Amino acid sequence: MLRYGTTALACGLLACCAGPQSALDPAGRGAERIASLFWWMAAGAAVIWLAVVGLTLYALHRPQQHSERKATQLIIGGGFIAPTVILAVALAFALALLPDLLASPRGAMQIRVSGEQWWWRVQYVLPDGRTVELANEMRLPAGEAVEVLLSSPDVIHAFWVPSIAGKVDMIPGRVTRLTLEPTRTGVFRGVCAEYCGTAHALMAFDVVVLEKEEFLSWLEHQRKPIVPERDRGLELFLANGCGACHTIRGTAADGVIGPDLTHVGSRTSLGAGILPNDADAFAHFIARPDAVKPGVLMPPFGMLPSEEVRAIAESLERLE
Ligand code: CUA
Repeated sequence: MLRYGTTALACGLLACCAGPQSALDPAGRGAERIASLFWWMAAGAAVIWLAVVGLTLYALHRPQQHSERKATQLIIGGGFIAPTVILAVALAFALALLPDLLASPRGAMQIRVSGEQWWWRVQYVLPDGRTVELANEMRLPAGEAVEVLLSSPDVIHAFWVPSIAGKVDMIPGRVTRLTLEPTRTGVFRGVCAEYCGTAHALMAFDVVVLEKEEFLSWLEHQRKPIVPERDRGLELFLANGCGACHTIRGTAADGVIGPDLTHVGSRTSLGAGILPNDADAFAHFIARPDAVKPGVLMPPFGMLPSEEVRAIAESLERLE
């Protein structure tokens, strides 16, 4: 029974090590370095634990073997000198990692990410200096380093994609930097790792790592405004003032308070990583955003006839 329990526990623990949001299943240079630091520290901790348990057992079995002087030496050596040396080595090793994790590689593409309440504003800086804005999703080219410039307009958040790199705070009034260098394609999950208010736990995003060509054609597509058709949902969107907060490039909607919705239908999720990207989820969010994300700034539009909410939802979903 105990053996089955232990096996199940070990499998459970190992399963926790894999997946799209695991620092122990690295898919980026930074995460690889952090994972190797973790394994060295875990091995060191195991050795120290075994030594302490061994000494304890030894002391229990031979309580009167040592003079007081020897006991004092053991306490000074094992309780002060050894921990000081071990922690100093671990600190030096970790500090030596930092420049590589944070430094900006020359000529790397820049992406500005701003932590909002409670979503992510993402701006790709193009070679000509113009920007392409999207929200709650990043796509990156595999095998290339990009520099992420992190900021926040109001409260402190922390940007963390455990599979790809370390965690960096987003501090109002400052720009902090992080290098992301994904090593393989896939979809990885990022989160806010600093308590930032009511919906802190509902503030996630996907990082989609693509081959270079695929990435470039995606970015080119995101850059283009949409070509608006005569669409009832879009007309209702504009008539109800949604454009005061949201931008849909190619239409009259040019608000900057909320997420840019130009290509929202192409994203992997809605509501900052918490809802599937389909018309039902759009309709639910539009009618009761506060029920999905407590404390959200967007007012509910549940007073609109549900058929109108549905029309807006279906139009937004078509914005790919
Ligand atoms: Cu943003 Cu926690």
